[in-house]
Amino acid sequence: MRDYILFYLNGKRYEVRGEQAFMSLADFLRYERGLTGTKIVCAEGDCGACSVLRGEVLPEQDELRYSTINACITFVHLMDGTHVVTVEGLQDEQALSPIQQAMVENYGAQCGFCTPGFVCAMTDLVNHNAYQNPKGQTHLDEKQIRNGLTGNLCRCTGYTPIIEAGKAVNLAQFTPLQKRYNSPEMMAELRRHRSVPIRIQAGNKDFYAPLSYAEAVTFKQAQNAQIFASATDLGVQINKERSNPTVICSLNLVPEAHALSESGGVISVGARVTLNELEHFMRGHIPEFARLLKIFASPQIKNKGTLVGNVANASPIADTLPFLFVADAEVELTGPNGKRRVNINRFYTGYKQLDMRPEELISRILIPIPDPADSLRLFKVSNRKDLDISTFTAGFRLRLENDLISQIAIAYGGVAATVLRLPKTEAFLQGKPFNLETFQAAGAIARSEISPISDVRASAAYRLKLAENILLKLYHALAPSPAEAVGV
Ligand SMILES: Cc1cc2nc3c(=O)[nH]c(=O)nc-3n(C[C@H](O)[C@H](O)[C@H](O)COP(=O)(O)OP(=O)(O)OC[C@H]3O[C@@H](n4cnc5c(N)ncnc54)[C@H](O)[C@@H]3O)c2cc1C
Ligand code: FES
Ligand code: FES
Repeated sequence: MRDYILFYLNGKRYEVRGEQAFMSLADFLRYERGLTGTKIVCAEGDCGACSVLRGEVLPEQDELRYSTINACITFVHLMDGTHVVTVEGLQDEQALSPIQQAMVENYGAQCGFCTPGFVCAMTDLVNHNAYQNPKGQTHLDEKQIRNGLTGNLCRCTGYTPIIEAGKAVNLAQFTPLQKRYNSPEMMAELRRHRSVPIRIQAGNKDFYAPLSYAEAVTFKQAQNAQIFASATDLGVQINKERSNPTVICSLNLVPEAHALSESGGVISVGARVTLNELEHFMRGHIPEFARLLKIFASPQIKNKGTLVGNVANASPIADTLPFLFVADAEVELTGPNGKRRVNINRFYTGYKQLDMRPEELISRILIPIPDPADSLRLFKVSNRKDLDISTFTAGFRLRLENDLISQIAIAYGGVAATVLRLPKTEAFLQGKPFNLETFQAAGAIARSEISPISDVRASAAYRLKLAENILLKLYHALAPSPAEAVGV
């Protein structure tokens, strides 16, 4: 057992003990290490000013995988076994990195407050493409840059010069972080520590990172601990003083928690699999779900946040839930008496109420791959496309036989205290002809099955209209184009 967190910071080894292990990473960098290039603006993962790069050990690989995260909503204890690179760690000797230099030459900064975050996010893009260079590119294209920077806000420069800076970087002139930093000693140290559990007690705080789900369950039961996945929800709650967990259990050192696999047509997602890993995996298995994950939050959030955290957080507007409902996914719970499975359609019993006992934790989500005969469509309605909370969400799984609807599953989010299935609408559609009139009539039934509230994002009337109209959108998404209909 160790009583410290081990991580590397800009290439230097650190052991962090006591209360410092419970600090937010941003505070630790700024106030304990004097690395004030990492800024704190929103403190809730929304602006990207606190972006840093985090390198993680991959199984059976001799280098780290780097990606950007928000340092404001993560904690030092969650950095165990990683290499953190801040904006200060990017310059080469005394020279600016090619990205920093491009920002200067393209007038990419005015007040400069957002600039370190943009530089880190852009470094993630450049590093990925310079190192692996999957497309054999010499420069990034505009689409890659726009997608890669959705987690960063600038209030004064305007985005055009920043995008121009990204386009100007010559990938060949960038030394990948893996080549620059990953020494055999660093890799050996990080690997060796992954097999040693951690317990840190300081003041009223207690942190435990065991090596198995069973040990985590024992600790959770004995200490009434809160499980931390990646803290993209918990970090916001803590920063905004909506919660203050003192006894914390991390599953980071549990090998099974990182497992993502497919077997017999069922995808198994461990408790620490990130949304980014899932998005990549789903492209080859359930592309419609991968498409939805593309517009989930920002790269910084997805590089860290987990599917299990999204499920356990139990928000009625959690983006993954309508899909999991219509896919008939199962939640695997591990407790003192072993494992049990609950169909996600029965997992939520009220607002933020789960069929999960205090001593249990979620070990996996099991997702059956929809039958090839089924059409899957997922919708997220929000005020803007990127990095926005949903106003309304919907998931549909539908099968047609001889132009009749032979099977249909519908789930809506943002219309009640939990995500809902719509049994009356499903029953109405069953066996009906696949035409516009059917979906118009179904819209009226869908309205009658929900009673949404008005809140800061939308009125109840707007949500009722969405509930109706999304069925028309579904019809038009699935209906053959006029050319296909006449066999052109
Ligand atoms: C800027 C920003 C943008 C966001 N955008 C979106 C978005 O577009 N769509 C969306 O749906 N969400 C969004 N979120 C919410 C959040 O990122 C997701 O809900 C994410 O999936 C949470 O995962 P996590 O690993 O960070 O969970 P954590 O914050 O670590 O945990 C969340 C909850 O789950 C519990 N928990 C975690 N693991 C387990 C386990 N194994 N067993 C039992 N309980 C567990 C925790 O105790 C906690 O209550 C956003 C958040 C931020 C800050
Ligand atoms: S300070 Fe805004 S994302 Fe961290
Ligand atoms: S340069 Fe001022 S906020 Fe971006």
